[in-house]
Amino acid sequence: MKKTIVFSCLCALLLLYTMCNKVGIFNEDGFDERLSGGAATVFDETSHAFTHEIDGLSERDGQVHEFGDKAFEQTFVSNPAPIFGGLGPVFNNVSCISCHHNDGKGTPTAGQSTSSLLFRISVPGKDLHGGPLAADGFGLQLQDQSLIGSKPEAQISINYTSLSVTYPDGTVVALRQPTYNVYNPYTPLPASYMLSPRLAPPVFGGGLIDNIPAQTILSFVDAGDKNHDGISGKANYVFNPYSQKMEIGRFGLKANTSALAVQVAAAYQQDMGITSYVFGQEASYGQAQTANAKPNKDIPDSTLNAAIFYVRTLAVPARRNTTDVDVKAGQQLFTQINCSGCHRQTIQTGIDLTLPALSNQRIHPYSDFLLHDMGNGLADNRPDFLATGNEWRTMPLWGIGLFGKTNGTPYYLHDGRATTIEQAILWHGGEAENAKQAFMQLSNADRTKILKFIQSL
Ligand code: HEC
Ligand code: HEC
Repeated sequence: MKKTIVFSCLCALLLLYTMCNKVGIFNEDGFDERLSGGAATVFDETSHAFTHEIDGLSERDGQVHEFGDKAFEQTFVSNPAPIFGGLGPVFNNVSCISCHHNDGKGTPTAGQSTSSLLFRISVPGKDLHGGPLAADGFGLQLQDQSLIGSKPEAQISINYTSLSVTYPDGTVVALRQPTYNVYNPYTPLPASYMLSPRLAPPVFGGGLIDNIPAQTILSFVDAGDKNHDGISGKANYVFNPYSQKMEIGRFGLKANTSALAVQVAAAYQQDMGITSYVFGQEASYGQAQTANAKPNKDIPDSTLNAAIFYVRTLAVPARRNTTDVDVKAGQQLFTQINCSGCHRQTIQTGIDLTLPALSNQRIHPYSDFLLHDMGNGLADNRPDFLATGNEWRTMPLWGIGLFGKTNGTPYYLHDGRATTIEQAILWHGGEAENAKQAFMQLSNADRTKILKFIQSL
């Protein structure tokens, strides 16, 4: 009898122990919450916070990262040039860094050399793979700059109209709504063209995002909104010209790209007019002004691969002020009003045998990498694969509190219309309408706590 009791007690203890252990895996207490990128986190609060390589790169990998850094910062020039030639004939900017300032967000000054705001263009319909249909003579992106001897595809100007939002407590916040004017097209624009403004997002943490299992992202989908929180979320499926497969989208402001390698190769081709082994055709292909352009390679494979490796191995900046009482309260409120329904705090990356810092990491991107209807106020009305004109990918919030340092003036949302985090929140609608309303109902003090929390990311 006694033996059975002792045995049962032992079993109970063992069970309790394993349960505690299991709980421990998911328990926040065991983790340093400053580590937004897990082992791929870096402690730097300066304007260079987004520019560091992950820890533990081998000497050779470190060299590739460094060469990729050069390729990212290099101003490309027109051919003939011994190295870093091939710019244009039409392009949006001359280097990666001229859009992704300090590897961070860009500046929405369309038409100027400092501009990181580009415009996708298409006409109604779908291409072979379900993607947007290219506009005749313009392709899928408006290149607003050109080399001497060619014409930019068109010029764009922005006009901001002022709006205001009033909180129930009487506080008024001014917002600005952009409208765009396309002028001086080198050839008439098709009648029914659609535009999508896209401001350059930060590029750090790319390797971690690349390494989230597709299954994990799919597990966040709540297609019929079964839990009735007003948030559904949908995965984008996009064509990968590299693997020639349809894959789940995770990069780009509409989750319109599936892999880092495609994103970088497309940036060279579309944003800078630089061809490579992935995209050999000039962005201006098919235009009367460059009718003779044959498929070619403006950059060697090693340059493209190094640039891909560079963004893959950029570390995520650590959080700050995590023990501040207001920040902690703000974090709770953020979850309470269900901002976390889309801005998902914690995700586990998959296995990467080559780079341990990216492998099996517990990261805090504050995104589910899904598409959400954000309402008419933010709509671009231009579909992109499965993304409708109202849908955008949940913007990751990691590093957001440092935009002021990395960018001088910070700009938020897909087109940079918001210049404060509060304005960005007040533009939320659609599936985020409930969360926004809940935010507006909070006291001024509580709203400030949420803003402080976001600034700590
Ligand atoms: C003209 C401005 C511009 C230039 C030049 C540019 N980018 Fe981008 N970049 C963007 C925009 C805008 C997006 C969002 C694109 C979208 O929504 O499809 C983006 C997205 C990205 C992303 C994905 C980030 C994410 O989280 O979705 C990466 C990585 C990236 N760019 C790397 C590069 C590299 C590498 C280069 C140089 C080869 C480059 N970019 C050049 C504007 C630019
Ligand atoms: C339904 C999903 C959803 C919910 C809920 C949601 N967001 Fe967002 N959030 C997004 C999407 C999508 C974007 C990008 C929208 C765009 O660029 O047009 C975004 C953008 C942002 C940005 C701007 C990020 C940047 O770098 O520009 C902030 C800040 C933000 N959200 C905070 C919040 C807060 C605070 C809440 C809760 C009150 C919240 N969000 C609730 C989906 C959501």
